[in-house]
Amino acid sequence: MAHLREAAVQERAPAVTAPRVEDATPRHLAPFLCLADFEAAARRRLPRQIYGYYAGAAETCQSFQANAASFRSYELVPRVLADVSARSARTTLFGTTYDAPFGIAPMGLSGLATFEGELVLARAATQAGIPAIVSATSLMPLERVATQGGARWFQAYLPGEDARIEAMVDRVEAAGYDTFVLTADVPVPANRENNVRTGFSIPLQPSLRLLWDGLSRPHWLGATWLATFLRHGVPHFENMDAFRGPPILSRHVVRAIGARDQLSWRHLELIRRRWPGRLILKGVLSAEDAVQAREHGADGVIVSNHGGRQLDGARPALAALPAIAEVAGPMRVMVDGGIRRGSDVLKALALGAHFVFVGRPFLFAAAARGQDGVRHAIRLLLAEIERDMALLGVTRIEALTRAHVERAPWAA
Ligand code: GLV
Repeated sequence: MAHLREAAVQERAPAVTAPRVEDATPRHLAPFLCLADFEAAARRRLPRQIYGYYAGAAETCQSFQANAASFRSYELVPRVLADVSARSARTTLFGTTYDAPFGIAPMGLSGLATFEGELVLARAATQAGIPAIVSATSLMPLERVATQGGARWFQAYLPGEDARIEAMVDRVEAAGYDTFVLTADVPVPANRENNVRTGFSIPLQPSLRLLWDGLSRPHWLGATWLATFLRHGVPHFENMDAFRGPPILSRHVVRAIGARDQLSWRHLELIRRRWPGRLILKGVLSAEDAVQAREHGADGVIVSNHGGRQLDGARPALAALPAIAEVAGPMRVMVDGGIRRGSDVLKALALGAHFVFVGRPFLFAAAARGQDGVRHAIRLLLAEIERDMALLGVTRIEALTRAHVERAPWAA
């Protein structure tokens, strides 16, 4: 009897607002049930050096691991009987409404994950109605990526040299971008021993080991490397400066990244005066720096430890977030690092973030299944968010508050 009653109740239940991901999933995507599932498939497809570069972090990986642990150190506080039948994860940021409260973080060398990886990420994001940030270390001219429509966010690495900064800002503006993200946590290259161990360098140095690792991944060799070579020649660093950078494969070239260690608040001011669009400072972990960013004219900050890839031991973004949200004033506060689940997104938003960015999982999805993979990864994360909103008792992203999270007693 009980099960008959249940069946009757189910018949009367209102349709959920979004179709379940499984309903529309083609066979080649069916094994991927969550973001974490893409990494193993990407590892099987990518040469060791490339996978190691994407997956790796600085020194002991303390900050990388702390990113994931920080989300587990918070517990959600669900509210019941809240009538969550009409719920939406749509989120407005800087006047634009996106279909989800997350975007794709900027990631270097994404053109080595899959053929035209930068375009793959941009297209998938555009189709899904979310923003993707173009990385300075990408291999496709930023002007070309801009042709994919969607959000126009560009992330720059800049030296403390006025003329180079001005020329780059002008280039990004001429290409039609509206959001300039300055990454501030890279005054010197990080110590990434894993890259040394796998033989990865920038530019990649031709070697027997590199050749062997390429040959051992025939799918990648044909569909990504050879396809890229035949279509575009050897990829170059296209977006570090106003001019084209060096090739990514070279025995002798040394990248002239310039005096990044001289970059200072004065340069942020310089950019602010020259750049007419929105200005975001990325890599902020201290409330004092967030105040400085606000006073120097930033429209937002991305709280981030660079995926644990810069200062090992740096705190995770989630730990820094509440204090930064408190002093942000009119700035928008965004977060990246360690977000792998819809519940992680909800925790960050409840702790004061207006939006979040997710990096590696989308790159692994691109490596594993190309654009379809990225679209599927976006759908999975969005479905988790919508499901978790219902379970948490909220119907709108703006309804998330500090009352929805508690620090776990063991972590407090
Ligand atoms: C580039 O931003 C990297 O972290 O390797």
